[in-house]
Amino acid sequence: IARSDRVKSVDLHPTEPWMLASLYNGSVCVWNHETQTLVKTFEVCDLPVRASKFVARKNWVITGADDMQIRVFNYNTLERVHMFEAHSDYIRCIAVHPTQPYILTSSDDMLIKLWDWEKKWSCSQVFEGHTHYVMQIVINPKDNNQFASASLDRTIKVWQLGSSSPNFTLEGHEKGVNCIDYYSGGDKPYLISGADDRQVKIWDYQNKTCVQTLEGHAQNVSCVSFHPELPIIITGSEDGTVRIWHSSTYRLESTLNYGMERVWCVCGLRGSNNVALGYDEGSIIIKVGREEPAMSMDTNGKIIWAKHSEIQQANLKAMGDTEIKDGERLPLAVKDMGSCEIYPQTIQHNPNGRFVVVCGDGEYIIYTAMALRNKSFGSAQEFVWAHDSSEYAIRESNSVVKIFKNFKEKKSFKPDFGAEGIYGGFLLGVRSVNGLAFYDWENTELIRRIEIQPKHIFWSDSGELVCIATEESFFILRYLADKVAASQENNEGVTEDGIEDAFEVQGEIQEIVKTGLWVGDCFIYTSSVNRLNYYVGGEIVTIAHLDRTMYLLGYIPKDDRLYLGDKELNIVSYSLLVSVLEYQTAVMRRDFGMADKVLPTIPKEQRTRVAHFLEKQGFKQQALAVSTDPEHRFELALQLGELKIAYQLAVEAESEQKWKQLAELAISKCQFGLAQECLHHAQDYGGLLLLATASGNATMVGKLAEGAERDGKNNVAFMTYFLQGKLDQCLELLIRTNRLPEAAFLARTYLPSQVSRVVKLWRENLAKVNQKAAESLADPTEYENLFPGLKEAFAAEHYLREACLGSSRPAKDYPLVTANEDRNILEEAQGYEPKGTFIPQFSKVQYPTSSVNLAVFFLHLQVFTLCKN
Ligand SMILES: *[C@@H]1O[C@H](CO)[C@@H](O)[C@H](O)[C@H]1NC(C)=O
Ligand SMILES: *[C@@H]1O[C@H](CO)[C@@H](O)[C@H](O)[C@H]1NC(C)=O
Ligand SMILES: *[C@@H]1O[C@H](CO)[C@@H](O)[C@H](O)[C@H]1NC(C)=O
Ligand SMILES: *[C@@H]1O[C@H](CO)[C@@H](O)[C@H](O)[C@H]1NC(C)=O
Ligand SMILES: *[C@@H]1O[C@H](CO)[C@@H](O)[C@H](O)[C@H]1NC(C)=O
Ligand SMILES: *[C@@H]1O[C@H](CO)[C@@H](O)[C@H](O)[C@H]1NC(C)=O
Repeated sequence: IARSDRVKSVDLHPTEPWMLASLYNGSVCVWNHETQTLVKTFEVCDLPVRASKFVARKNWVITGADDMQIRVFNYNTLERVHMFEAHSDYIRCIAVHPTQPYILTSSDDMLIKLWDWEKKWSCSQVFEGHTHYVMQIVINPKDNNQFASASLDRTIKVWQLGSSSPNFTLEGHEKGVNCIDYYSGGDKPYLISGADDRQVKIWDYQNKTCVQTLEGHAQNVSCVSFHPELPIIITGSEDGTVRIWHSSTYRLESTLNYGMERVWCVCGLRGSNNVALGYDEGSIIIKVGREEPAMSMDTNGKIIWAKHSEIQQANLKAMGDTEIKDGERLPLAVKDMGSCEIYPQTIQHNPNGRFVVVCGDGEYIIYTAMALRNKSFGSAQEFVWAHDSSEYAIRESNSVVKIFKNFKEKKSFKPDFGAEGIYGGFLLGVRSVNGLAFYDWENTELIRRIEIQPKHIFWSDSGELVCIATEESFFILRYLADKVAASQENNEGVTEDGIEDAFEVQGEIQEIVKTGLWVGDCFIYTSSVNRLNYYVGGEIVTIAHLDRTMYLLGYIPKDDRLYLGDKELNIVSYSLLVSVLEYQTAVMRRDFGMADKVLPTIPKEQRTRVAHFLEKQGFKQQALAVSTDPEHRFELALQLGELKIAYQLAVEAESEQKWKQLAELAISKCQFGLAQECLHHAQDYGGLLLLATASGNATMVGKLAEGAERDGKNNVAFMTYFLQGKLDQCLELLIRTNRLPEAAFLARTYLPSQVSRVVKLWRENLAKVNQKAAESLADPTEYENLFPGLKEAFAAEHYLREACLGSSRPAKDYPLVTANEDRNILEEAQGYEPKGTFIPQFSKVQYPTSSVNLAVFFLHLQVFTLCKN
């Protein structure tokens, strides 16, 4: 509802959710009826705007007002594109030609004019003949060259474009005619009119007679419309009501009164159930009829649907080998089956497909599906088939449900809390204010009451699973027939709500199901956000994102395809492999024998999807066996600790990342040999160092040192040398990498005999940047006075080299060895007699500079920590 000043005309946009309302106060508004917001306003003039129309192909809004001007606006830019004086009196109506660049306007000046916007809006023709105001004009949807006009001169005239005088005149109303519309259905050459004589007349414009007069409005009739889709006539009057009439029986179906004072205008839209109404106090959009198309498919691919009240059939088989693409409209040949005596709102095949039931207007007719022969009929609010093809139930009223078998009434019963809705399938479901009750079809005994307000119920073929869909979510339940049978036998576990253990909840999903069906244990559905999904074992798989609302018709295993229809009766399909569904069903039933049998029929490219499903169900071993995706297999192999498979995959993939992951797994499994290999492949020297030291493998540390230095991994190289006590190599590494100050300090700490040489190098190097600083470096051998105890240090170094280093001791001696920080080397070395002559060897090769980031000062601490650990 949009409240506003008096609305003189309404129009609906063909693609946007927009309603155009032209107001008596001079404004024109565009409302978004989905969000209920005002999107745009055009301040046209100070006088009433009685006519306005969308021209979607030009992005225009065209208005006609009491200032006699036609104005054209671009509704995107809100710019006025054009304006011209069209008539010499108020403009009453604008009609837009569906294909040509024409508009027609009618006015109180008694004229109708044709304008061509491609010829600079020139007036191509004037239609003269009415003797009073021309209130409305409509173009014949079946012949765009013809249009009709309604006038206060009490006549209706029919005109041809190209002829300035009317083709013919229809007379019969006793007062001025306000409104007119063409019937757009194929079968009847009809016009409808409404007048100040409070009557609505239906005219056959071929034999030019009035075929029906609809009486009932208590005041001037201001608007009339044949609905472009539904078999209804909508009329509005200054009595404030809108009346809905059946377009073939002319029965008054409904009277709508929204209390918004006089009704002025009505607009329906092809392909939509929306109807816009304009009143004294604003405008309203109503939805009429059912959203869902009346359509049903049997298990062989025969589709029956209702187009208005005509029943038509299409056969998927007749398409032959036409190649089908997902989501594309199928080129189906449609066969007319005859018309139905009721206006079908739903069509449903029975389970074996021999019969179809058509329901509508409180009645049902059961036909044979082949020839559409009437087999049974009656009145019913609702009709549902049982799982057994010969049985069905009807809801006769809000309290009585009747069950039929072989077209004969078997039982009539009154459910305890009434019957607001019924659901077919394995059990008979009855909805009441108190929730849902399931009954046994055989004896109408209560099986179970569930506190839920279902919208739809879908049973799987086996009757073991059922989906109960509500307005917010859906539940998957398992029906435990054994327990039900046991309880019925011994009467245990039976309460006033039925058998407690009848159902077991398997899952709840926060999605709104529009339509659904089961294939095995997989529940396929369309959701409120237009997704085509299926649910299996707690998992949701999306098959497709749909671009509009679609309704599931069925699944044909032979085609591996799922079929859906839309409101316009287009049929599309999506591929869904039956082998995959069967496999998943077998897995859900833990029937791996069956699963293994089905597996070979699943194409290779689908295997990984199936494997992911297995993994999510917790069957990783099986998933590993099934998956064809190396990434997925590697992940699974890691999770399962399958080192051999993971190793093979890592070899094939040649990826450092995989080697690292595998190394981690190998370490966790104490497979140090493998871990070492992996770390090598991954070039993970840090990892190798940790592994080598932590496992106390001296050989490995040695090898690592060489490799690391070769590969320029200087940090690791330094560390490994140092750990092995290879101080000379440490020093050389520092020198080679131009870490001369560090080298000097290392020498000063561990290799005093080398200090002189290093300081010399350091000085030379420093001199290049700072001569003065270089000169201030003192060589201990030249300034013995500055370095007391240097001689003793040389001796200690010699002592350590000969007596200690190189003699590695087993790790088990660790507790017996005095910690380095507790030793006093100088004391130990006292009285030690050197055996050989101490001449250290040094290479003179210059190495390229690279970084050694470790500060030598921290080495003590680090080595110490490593040993302790
Ligand atoms: C006419 O009425 C509408 C809504 O009732 C309002 O938004 C608009 O501003 C009015 N226009 C004029 C010209 O008063
Ligand atoms: C009226 O229209 C019909 C076709 O719709 C045409 O055959 C006939 O000649 C026309 N009559 C006049 C008087 O224009
Ligand atoms: C005109 O045609 C309608 C059917 O559209 C028919 O019911 C009516 O009797 C016909 N009238 C005359 C006068 O032929
Ligand atoms: C009905 O139309 C007549 C003109 O034909 C007008 O005088 C009268 O006021 C209208 N009725 C109402 C209730 O507005
Ligand atoms: C069905 O057919 C019977 C007899 O063949 C007939 O009396 C009845 O009117 C038909 N009913 C409907 C609703 O088609
Ligand atoms: C130590 O590492 C070497 C390879 O670097 C390996 O061959 C040897 O088996 C390892 N020793 C132990 C005890 O793991």
